[in-house]
Amino acid sequence: MKLIKCDLMLGALLCTASGGLLMLLLASWTAPTSLRLPSPRIFSKTFEWQAQTPHLLNLTDPYPYPFLINHPDKCEGSRDAPFLLMLVMTRPQDVVVRQAIRQTWGNETLVPGVVIRRLFVLGLPQPLFAQELQTLLEEEDREYGDLLQAGFLDTYHNLTLKVLMGLEWMGQSCPTAHYVLKVDTDVFLNPSFLVQQVLQPNRPPQPNFITGHIYRNPVPLRTQGHKWYVPLELYSHDKYPDYCGGPGYVMSSSLALRILTVAQRFKAMYVEDVFVGLCLKQLGVKPTPAPPNTFLMSRRKYNHCAFHQLVLVHHFQSQELLQIWPKFLTSSSACPSV
Ligand SMILES: *[C@@H]1O[C@H](CO)[C@@H](O)[C@H](O)[C@H]1NC(C)=O
Ligand SMILES: *[C@@H]1O[C@H](CO)[C@@H](O)[C@H](O)[C@H]1NC(C)=O
Ligand SMILES: *[C@@H]1O[C@H](CO)[C@@H](O)[C@H](O)[C@H]1NC(C)=O
Repeated sequence: MKLIKCDLMLGALLCTASGGLLMLLLASWTAPTSLRLPSPRIFSKTFEWQAQTPHLLNLTDPYPYPFLINHPDKCEGSRDAPFLLMLVMTRPQDVVVRQAIRQTWGNETLVPGVVIRRLFVLGLPQPLFAQELQTLLEEEDREYGDLLQAGFLDTYHNLTLKVLMGLEWMGQSCPTAHYVLKVDTDVFLNPSFLVQQVLQPNRPPQPNFITGHIYRNPVPLRTQGHKWYVPLELYSHDKYPDYCGGPGYVMSSSLALRILTVAQRFKAMYVEDVFVGLCLKQLGVKPTPAPPNTFLMSRRKYNHCAFHQLVLVHHFQSQELLQIWPKFLTSSSACPSV
């Protein structure tokens, strides 16, 4: 399989296994029924489900979606409390992507003297491959101990739930972390710049701190069938509150916990970054601007010096990440300093 770089991967075992999985996926793609794209009808159906679930989370109750793969002691064992908890949103089938992230920006020991913890957050695989994939996930987790799986179906429309589950986990098992980063897999991330220049380990975290790329005066998408379509029944105002772009945003853990408490009051909104923005508005918190041009929501060609002076670039695939990473790690002393 050309698509899986075995030399870069964890070893023959998982390689063969994910190769098998790929075959499985390919096999399913040949079935015409699974090729059908979601129609607007399916979208509105989804919304019915969402709208009928007014409270995503109910922290007072036994938790509706238990963690099936969990690491409650992930944040223990280091002298200092974790400075940064990385919650990486992945899909169950993203075996190869997770491996690339572990070898690049997800590396927990990349920033000397700063405790970073990384978890990949995912839900349940689609029923068609559930058994095979679940076995694989458990194997992957035995090897790396960094998966956090919640008991709901892993779909794009459940992404808000996934993010909230990640924050819920932080509240349960990692409340002493200073900051939490929500990040997607299709990005380039520079943890050193994030930690040293944006968060700054010597400063105490501000209780209302959240930063990223801030969308200002954003307008809801009303085109049916669009990925981010939001019907009036779900959100009737003509503007969203300002929010930080979903590919990556970082906040103090105390703010994350308060987001959880207000999240219960809202209807589920599957556009996850907008949802977090609604929670912020409810809390009276405005996103803090990041240094200019440090969270890029559009693609940028790799440039050694430029990438050392920013936090995140959206639209980076894992193959590309693996290619540029060794170059990125080599000394940056040749670059002009800020
Ligand atoms: C949470 O669950 C409890 C017990 O089932 C219920 O009484 C309460 O109304 C729920 N709260 C919310 C916000 O749904
Ligand atoms: C993580 O970074 C450390 C320090 O740079 C390095 O020694 C280690 O090999 C890296 N781990 C992985 C999995 O790439
Ligand atoms: C979200 O997860 C629940 C629980 O597994 C599932 O019933 C529901 O269909 C999922 N929602 C969407 C929109 O995929």
